[in-house]
Amino acid sequence: MINAKLEEAFNDQINKEMYSAYLYLAMKVYFQECNLEGFVNWFGVQYQEEMAHAMGMFDYLSERGGHIDLRTIDEPEVKSSEILGIFDQVLEHEEYVTSRINALCDVADEVKDRAALNFLNWYIKEQVEEEANVGGLLAKLRLIGEDKKALLMLDNELKARTFVQPVIG
Ligand code: FEO
Repeated sequence: MINAKLEEAFNDQINKEMYSAYLYLAMKVYFQECNLEGFVNWFGVQYQEEMAHAMGMFDYLSERGGHIDLRTIDEPEVKSSEILGIFDQVLEHEEYVTSRINALCDVADEVKDRAALNFLNWYIKEQVEEEANVGGLLAKLRLIGEDKKALLMLDNELKARTFVQPVIG
């Protein structure tokens, strides 16, 4: 049976992963309204990945005999109406998620749950990848600046991204 404090921390993180999915869905709406199909695709995949992250924890908590407590998901706020600003927010958000995953590991460590720490290792690595991907896109967007042709080329590139169901844990 999972420790109650760790169960609470997992439930909190499931909610945060679902919020991340919801935030990226809101960003997808923004790009739909700009008719930038590659960005729409990118945020659609991002949404699917976040739901997979949430469900990975959902399934794990269930496997460990924990109670899953589904909570209200906050209304997502897209803080910028500029592409660069939106990606700044994505990076900031991913850094926040990384800090929450680290905090969840701290709880697993505190209650000496080695199995949970082992499971959470996947998320630690995933966050490194997430931050690197978004950081790379941000760097490209900074290079592009006001060049609309280059932006359309990037949009075209982003159409190729596909969702691959991750094997978590
Ligand atoms: Fe689930 Fe993008 O972190």
